[in-house]
Amino acid sequence: MTEPALLAKVIAHRGASGVAPENTLAAISLAASVGAKCVEIDASISSDNIPFVHHDDGLERCTNGSGYLCAHTAAELDALTASAGKADFENEPLPRLSAMVSLLSSLQIGLNLEIKPTPGLEEPTAIAVCDVIRDSWPMDLPLVLSSFSREALAVARDSLPGAARALLVCAVPTDWHHQTQLLQCRNLHMAAPLLDEQQAKDITDAGLGLYCFTVNQPDEAARLLAMGVHGVFTDYPEEMLIGLGS
Ligand code: G3P
Ligand code: MG
Repeated sequence: MTEPALLAKVIAHRGASGVAPENTLAAISLAASVGAKCVEIDASISSDNIPFVHHDDGLERCTNGSGYLCAHTAAELDALTASAGKADFENEPLPRLSAMVSLLSSLQIGLNLEIKPTPGLEEPTAIAVCDVIRDSWPMDLPLVLSSFSREALAVARDSLPGAARALLVCAVPTDWHHQTQLLQCRNLHMAAPLLDEQQAKDITDAGLGLYCFTVNQPDEAARLLAMGVHGVFTDYPEEMLIGLGS
């Protein structure tokens, strides 16, 4: 029987991404300033294998760059801004994972780090992410590595066995128990609207941590928590913390 890798009831999804540009240092600082104790961010790699914090394969939606992030060197990506269309944040850098880890460490904020490889780059992405975490994540702060990519999770399991992992899915797959055992995952993270009460019971009875994305309404979060869900990812941590009375 595994033990859940507990993060927090309220996890700021890509930082306080409803207000600040997602996956930026500003979004993390804002989440911390409104009381969040844990954030979720996404990481992928540059052409020279440096992890950056960014959600999409392409740079267009969130930065002033274009093309695949993985086609650019780290030096090229360092020159970009990542305002994601948010007017008050025009000079926000596109952050390296190492810079994000430093900030989280100084703020004493826990992390769900989603390994988000561009398809085909599962192994180098997981290795590069694990290298940064091994070098610089403070041991006393909560950390869970998650991914939709089972290949990335297998590489993380072998590269950094001491770090907790979460199988990330939209709907609960029929083989969730086998997969979480195979990948030695302590948590399952999934889309909130696709969870039913029996699944929540089965997953938590199996000793897994259960977290749901993306939940922006406190009453929806309260319903999930009452089903045994351990926490929710939200774009609006301030409103969620107030709404849940936390
Ligand atoms: O990790 C939870 C959630 O972030 C997964 O989906 O697309 O927002 O990265 P996405
Ligand atoms: Mg994510």
